[in-house]
Amino acid sequence: MTSAPMRILSGLQPSGRLHIGNYFGMMESALKLQHEGDAYYFIADYHSLTSVHDGRLLRDHVRNLAIDFLACGLDPSRCVFFRQSDIPEHTELAWILSTVTPMGLLERCHSYKDKVARGIHASHGLFAYPVLMAADILIYDSDIVPVGRDQKQHVEVTRDIAIKMNEAFGEGLLKLPQPRIREETAVVPGLDGQKMSKSYDNTIQLFEELPALKKKIMSIKTDSTPVEEPKPVEDSSILALYKLVAAPADYQAMVDDFQRGGIGYGEFKKRLLQATTDYFAPFREKRAEITANPKFVDQVLAEGAEKARAVARKTLARVRDAVGLG
Ligand code: ADP
Ligand code: TRP
Repeated sequence: MTSAPMRILSGLQPSGRLHIGNYFGMMESALKLQHEGDAYYFIADYHSLTSVHDGRLLRDHVRNLAIDFLACGLDPSRCVFFRQSDIPEHTELAWILSTVTPMGLLERCHSYKDKVARGIHASHGLFAYPVLMAADILIYDSDIVPVGRDQKQHVEVTRDIAIKMNEAFGEGLLKLPQPRIREETAVVPGLDGQKMSKSYDNTIQLFEELPALKKKIMSIKTDSTPVEEPKPVEDSSILALYKLVAAPADYQAMVDDFQRGGIGYGEFKKRLLQATTDYFAPFREKRAEITANPKFVDQVLAEGAEKARAVARKTLARVRDAVGLG
């Protein structure tokens, strides 16, 4: 007997330029998984409406993120790649799910409070955002959801909502998904040592131009250990970032040099700059090629939308039938 392939789904919000935290926290593992199952990846533009209130800017971010995904290795012949707003079924399912979602479940979500604390408008959409995310996941009967650690709670909320739906309308109506977190890169540090995040203005963008990249890496916060003395390896953002982009032997050499003393932070930052540039050079080349071919991007998204919508329609029809709509 052949079993159905594992369905993998994830999304990224087009709310700014892609940074190294997004890449190593989520995108890289998602892209590896495209070889292991039936992958659905999308640009979560409905979600970004909670923070971006400028139509042109949002379109620009969507386009850039589509190009970024493709430049980083998303293979449209292996996965269904689409824009969330091309599948309006997500929002209808979100409404249905919201009617079984206890307020307390959403009140416990960290991301609403965190985002409001960072200055994002406290809208109903921002509060209800985990319900839309649940709809994104459940509408494709997803098995695995690769995300960064800060999204784990939302996948757990999705499971809770699916359980409520199944209790109310019939066991097996919705499939319970599992989060997939890559622990080694669950929190990539930013220039100031906090979690890298566009809201903290401490990011290194993936496709940063060299002068800006250099300026940023040289500005990474360090302690005041004199050049000749050994440097602490714990909590070093330079080391944590270097580990992501350097060969293991080069990383080990930097750890040894930290511990030996005699080399200043400026030199370590130069090594980090070189390794970062080398690591992302092939992506940069591919990005330039894709940018020169906008029709290709449109075509990939149009084909993705068609395939995704066919699946979403089926699930929504099943749910509408179960709850008594139409
Ligand atoms: P930001 O914090 O910059 O707004 P998002 O919240 O849009 O980033 O995150 C998009 C995805 O990237 C999520 O899956 C998230 O878990 C992951 N991610 C973001 N920042 C990091 C980080 N510093 N380390 C690891 N993963 C991250
Ligand atoms: N909330 C996710 C983020 O901010 C993006 C997202 C929306 C998502 N819907 C999803 C991720 C469904 C995984 C599955 O990064």
